[in-house]
Amino acid sequence: MKAVVQDRFGPPEQVLRVTDVDRPEPGPGEVLVRLRATSVNTPDWIAVAGVPYVLRLSARAKGAVRGTDVAGTVEALGAGVSGFAVGDAVIGTKWGSGFPTAGTFAEYTVTRADRLIPKPEGIGFADAAASVMSGMTAHAAVAEVFAAGPGQRILVNGASGGVGTFAVQIARHRGAEVTAVCGPANLDLVRGLGAARAIDYTATDFTAGPDRYDAILDNVLNHPPRRVLRALASGGVYLPNSIGNSGGLLAGLAKMAGATLLGAAGRADVRSVDGGFTPERLTAVADLVASGAVRPVIDRTYPLEETPAAVARMYSHRARGNIVITMGE
Ligand SMILES: NC(=O)c1ccc[n+]([C@@H]2O[C@H](COP(=O)([O-])OP(=O)(O)OC[C@H]3O[C@@H](n4cnc5c(N)ncnc54)[C@H](OP(=O)(O)O)[C@@H]3O)[C@@H](O)[C@H]2O)c1
Repeated sequence: MKAVVQDRFGPPEQVLRVTDVDRPEPGPGEVLVRLRATSVNTPDWIAVAGVPYVLRLSARAKGAVRGTDVAGTVEALGAGVSGFAVGDAVIGTKWGSGFPTAGTFAEYTVTRADRLIPKPEGIGFADAAASVMSGMTAHAAVAEVFAAGPGQRILVNGASGGVGTFAVQIARHRGAEVTAVCGPANLDLVRGLGAARAIDYTATDFTAGPDRYDAILDNVLNHPPRRVLRALASGGVYLPNSIGNSGGLLAGLAKMAGATLLGAAGRADVRSVDGGFTPERLTAVADLVASGAVRPVIDRTYPLEETPAAVARMYSHRARGNIVITMGE
């Protein structure tokens, strides 16, 4: 089968190549999925770039196939798998225990059956793939960790990215009033997704303004967390959720740690967001998409052969919504 194999850590277009590799076999409890689409997410650019270098001590590069999000059809079942049949359309993830080395940037992948759900008929494979990590993270943030609802004001920083475009729509659908922060080119995009107000971060610093929010989902952490807290209403919740789409991974991790410490010190209600897979969470996202309440925003769809460019686009941190890779018919 064709797969995108990593040779070493470095710039995506220099270290990823499309080649033929053996098709994997499903073991007990696993499913072989013929992929129809996947998407590119934060773990992918981190695992490919290998920055910061300390990461390279724990993650293998040579021969790795990256990619976490699964959208495709069941090709074969491993021993003991029930509930799925060959030919079923499924969505799910390979994320869960570190960076995948036999991931979804390929024509086929093997994943645990308990990390798959049936794909609703009303969703195409590209939209399904776009909805997995981004959709689950956004859902965890604004529907679970903070249950957005009518009468609440929520600010989404990084509203035009993969997670942000889902978060704006999910919070709005739940009845909250959404303020979306993004770059000047994306103001119309986020307004179209239901944001009541759109703030251009190149012109306005939301942490310095008079407005106060019941929750702030921070997908960028481009402001010191201490300053972000100023924009919280009394009893408001801060959801720091970025390990480095501005300022690099080390800076992102340090700011995340700083935000957590502010919470531990009682300065504010600071809650972490774990967008990991649960069948209930992915089903909730898929149902929102299938019903039309939420529309996955796709920056661009790349064929599998152009995966290096797709990962480079993610690494630019400038994608509008989600980056999708398709494997053809
Ligand atoms: N908790 C979890 O389980 C989980 C899972 C996945 C991801 N994440 C985190 O979620 C975050 C967002 O992920 P994503 O896929 O949405 O990333 P993304 O698509 O790269 O985020 C892009 C967004 O970041 C904004 N941005 C980039 N650089 C900026 C800067 N210097 N200043 C202000 N805004 C800037 C962009 O604004 P414009 O392009 O409009 O300028 C855009 O809104 C990541 O940092 C990641 O660490 C968490």
